[in-house]
Amino acid sequence: MEIITILDKKFEVFIDENEISNLISTIADEINNSNIENPLFIGIMNGSFLFCADLMRKINLKNSEVSFVKLSSYIGTKTSGIVNELIGINNISGKNVIVLEDIVDTGITLEKIITLLKKEDVNDIKIATLLFKPDSYKKDFKIDYIGKYIGNDFVVGYGLDYNELGRNLKHIYKLKN
Ligand code: IMP
Ligand code: MG
Repeated sequence: MEIITILDKKFEVFIDENEISNLISTIADEINNSNIENPLFIGIMNGSFLFCADLMRKINLKNSEVSFVKLSSYIGTKTSGIVNELIGINNISGKNVIVLEDIVDTGITLEKIITLLKKEDVNDIKIATLLFKPDSYKKDFKIDYIGKYIGNDFVVGYGLDYNELGRNLKHIYKLKN
């Protein structure tokens, strides 16, 4: 199997492009069978850019909208501490949102995103993620659509990065021990 090097680390192929494509077809079938009306798909940047592009080509729900947001955290005033903000949201009230994530690990990022979306007075929020690390997950939000359950290995490729590198790789690789 192909071994690649990114910065100081070696990675081996873990989920090849054919398997990724099959995982996405399965998620798309489930979403297409869900009868969600006027869905607004929201891709979380940067990691989900390829997942969104490939998934959306397989979605056939009527009146589907697609948008992208980025979660940013900054230090607010001394009393408010760290403030989370979704950049790119505009008037989504009443929408049936489907959040598209590349990977859910501890679930901390997802919790922040859900909290911020709820403030926008949306009608419904569903979550789809390509990869899920169940042994690392610390929250109880239901994840509605999961491509593949994986162990706690660190993975890169297909949108996922190691220090911002590797997002363009067509396979998903895992850290080689
Ligand atoms: P969480 O908040 O712990 O669920 O982590 C979510 C974020 O951490 C993801 O959106 C990724 O950006 C990053 N992340 C978690 N696991 C991995 C991994 O194995 N490879 C690359 N990025 C990861
Ligand atoms: Mg990342």
